[in-house]
Amino acid sequence: MILVTGGAGFIGANFVLDWLASTSESVVNLDALTYAGNLESLKSVSKDPRHVFVHGDICDRSLLDRVLSDYQPRAIVHFAAESHVDRSIHGPASFIRTNVEGTFTLLEACRAYWSALPPNKKEAFRFHHVSTDEVYGSLGPQDAPFTETHLYEPNSPYSASKAASDHLVRAWHHTYGLPVLTTNCSNNYGPYHFPEKLIPLMIVNALAGKPLPVYGDGQQIRDWLYVKDHCSAIREVLARGQLGETYNVGGWNEKPNIEIVHTVCALLDEMKPDPAGSYARLITYVTDRPGHDRRYAIDARKLERELSWKPAETFETGIRKTVRWYLDNTEWVANVQSGNYREWVNTHYGDRGAS
Ligand code: NAD
Ligand code: TYD
Repeated sequence: MILVTGGAGFIGANFVLDWLASTSESVVNLDALTYAGNLESLKSVSKDPRHVFVHGDICDRSLLDRVLSDYQPRAIVHFAAESHVDRSIHGPASFIRTNVEGTFTLLEACRAYWSALPPNKKEAFRFHHVSTDEVYGSLGPQDAPFTETHLYEPNSPYSASKAASDHLVRAWHHTYGLPVLTTNCSNNYGPYHFPEKLIPLMIVNALAGKPLPVYGDGQQIRDWLYVKDHCSAIREVLARGQLGETYNVGGWNEKPNIEIVHTVCALLDEMKPDPAGSYARLITYVTDRPGHDRRYAIDARKLERELSWKPAETFETGIRKTVRWYLDNTEWVANVQSGNYREWVNTHYGDRGAS
């Protein structure tokens, strides 16, 4: 079996569902169930004996030792992280704790487990670290997209903590020989995405008739990757990636934020028209994010060249599926919008003036 950390979050849950549907192997899913962890996303596999959920923290070394010894995974896919840039600006401490200290603790527990494996299992073992393109910093309008050799220039507490975790993973390979793989991917979107991030926030706010908050001039560019394409890329890298190597994963979909918001509004106008008029009437420009990176873009040619991986979805097909999913899963949305999420909306948008 494999061990997944953070498998109750957005990408982790999609990965667990995808893994169980496309392989015969079991998954142990270790997740602390922070505000971003949601077992409802895994409802469809709650009775599948191949999915074992362990509620726990990656900073807890004795728990990690126990889980590794009990389940003897052949590989680890490490998703668990604090992942929201705006939250990292309001409170960076939990990002340092989970992303840096948690990755360090996991690496140490894995090193101890891996060192004691018999030679054939030791050779086959893999530690797959899931990271982000944000570690490379911000691109100018004419710059070439990020390759794997791009300088690390993280600008937010989130990206700095992920960059630190990438460096730890690299060092554990070079120093101790731990068989690691790292993927740095662009912005994901798709089902089960927590509505604090751009695309799901715009969908749920529009449906609720609430303002659609666009930061600054809305001309910041992100490179969008459908989450199921990210899952297939991880499966490929885990199966056939070169040890110690980094692979950039992207969807070749660079779009300014304002274009994303207009696309979401147009799809909602088509699929669930509002008698009050186009959802675009709700677009509201608000004060920009401090230190807001202007442009991210991924050059994913290494993954295509070496492992023949290409995204299956275009942005047009992926965003249509995503909007449809949110319209069909209103109960998931309603449940996720309770508690901590409501507090976050008040803290973050409460005194964010319209600009
Ligand atoms: P998410 O915030 O939706 O989920 C994170 C999960 O980790 C949650 O289930 C949470 O409960 C769990 N978690 C947090 N702290 C933990 C701890 N201390 N111990 C155990 N579990 C803990 O994040 P996501 O969007 O699914 O991202 C997954 C990974 O992919 C992260 O490492 C993130 O940096 C990376 N990534 C995400 C994106 C994106 O667009 N979402 C893009 C690039 C890279
Ligand atoms: P986000 O989904 O938070 O991802 P990231 O910051 O990791 O790229 O934001 C995507 C882009 O959308 C980013 O440029 C910030 C912008 N944004 C808004 O304009 N309004 C919002 O309410 C949010 C959450 C994000």
